[in-house]
Amino acid sequence: MNELIWNTRSEVVVFWNYYQIMLNFMFEKVNYKKMKELNIGGLEIYPPIVQGGMGVGISLSGLAAAVANEGGIGVISPAGIGFLYKHHSRDYLENCKYGLTEEIRKARQNSNGVIGVNIMVALSNYADLVQTSIFEGIDIIFSGAGLPLDLPKYLTPGSKTKLVPIVSSARATTLICNKWKTNYDYLPDAIVVEGPKAGGHLGFKVEQIEDENYSLERIIPEVVATANEIGEKYGCTIPVIAAGGIYTGEDIEKIMGMGASGVQMGTRFVTTVECDASDGFKQAYLDAKKNDVRIIKSPVGMPGRAISSLFLDEVEAGKTRPKVCPVNCIRTCDINTAPYCIIASLTAALRGNFRNGYAFAGSNVWRNDKIVTVKELFATLLQEFKEYKNKLELAFY
Ligand SMILES: Cc1cc2nc3c(=O)[nH]c(=O)nc-3n(C[C@H](O)[C@H](O)[C@H](O)COP(=O)(O)O)c2cc1C
Repeated sequence: MNELIWNTRSEVVVFWNYYQIMLNFMFEKVNYKKMKELNIGGLEIYPPIVQGGMGVGISLSGLAAAVANEGGIGVISPAGIGFLYKHHSRDYLENCKYGLTEEIRKARQNSNGVIGVNIMVALSNYADLVQTSIFEGIDIIFSGAGLPLDLPKYLTPGSKTKLVPIVSSARATTLICNKWKTNYDYLPDAIVVEGPKAGGHLGFKVEQIEDENYSLERIIPEVVATANEIGEKYGCTIPVIAAGGIYTGEDIEKIMGMGASGVQMGTRFVTTVECDASDGFKQAYLDAKKNDVRIIKSPVGMPGRAISSLFLDEVEAGKTRPKVCPVNCIRTCDINTAPYCIIASLTAALRGNFRNGYAFAGSNVWRNDKIVTVKELFATLLQEFKEYKNKLELAFY
């Protein structure tokens, strides 16, 4: 009798172990087809998708809240926001602060998710915008278009705002980390690496843009190695987020396979219902063909990627000149040499006026063929990611 009980018991144990192994295997398999969660200083983000900040007025509270509601990070761009809040006062700088406060509060009202702002170092009112964002308790500040070397100095006691620089190289990553650690005993909560296929201003020389040595796929492993090394030295983790030319779930899988912990996408979010740009601006995205995408020299002093327009043809032909500098919005812009006023032309484009403006866009803009909701876009990206994983699995067997 004892022997029978003993044998049955061992069979149950064997069966239980087998069951556990199968369960783990199935769980791993299901999870393997899911994107990994992104963690920025304790903020958990799933799917690990950041909607890139887009000025002027392209990503405000409407788009940011919609993205945050899907689990990603919704990012407001306050670049030139004072132009959009002209009715508030006669003072551009005051209108910028007011507009940013309004947009952050609206986004908070419409979402409980993670909301960030994107503040370009080149903006003349950089400090003002950073301080306003921290005062409003923004979750994350993304900062690029220059090196945000003194960003941590604006943090106030008790503030929970995370700081994320946007860089284009491992060198810039090291420089920022060293400066922040030495001067403020602070390290970035994450790093965004923007490659040369991105829309907007590019942190590369014109001749580097098409050079494979500067491709996102080359830079990502270098920045990940640097961030890991610094993280190990100081006992922390610095996740790296890849940006520029990422368009599908397959692209997300590939770049995360190279060590990125998340992605930042701009162009694909423009053709959404919730994007804050006008229908005219979105239509320019839908109409764009591959050879309409061009590299321009921006008055900010950096190259940029944009969709061709009548206005850009005139700029190239040397036919444009800014009459006045209305607000001195960019630190590095000189009215005496700038071929046009960037803030005026981007505000015109926001409203769909391409006679006086142009739309920034990433290299994949020509692939946009319909307007979808942010919810639909997230579902598509997750589906594409899963399908690509399935394809990889089939190839493996
Ligand atoms: C219309 C437009 C405006 C942008 N404006 C800004 C900006 O104000 N500040 C910034 O750091 N990046 C800006 N970007 C870059 C995005 O935040 C993002 O990193 C980039 O678009 C990613 O590349 P993708 O468009 O290929 O996805 C802009 C991009 C676009 C398309």
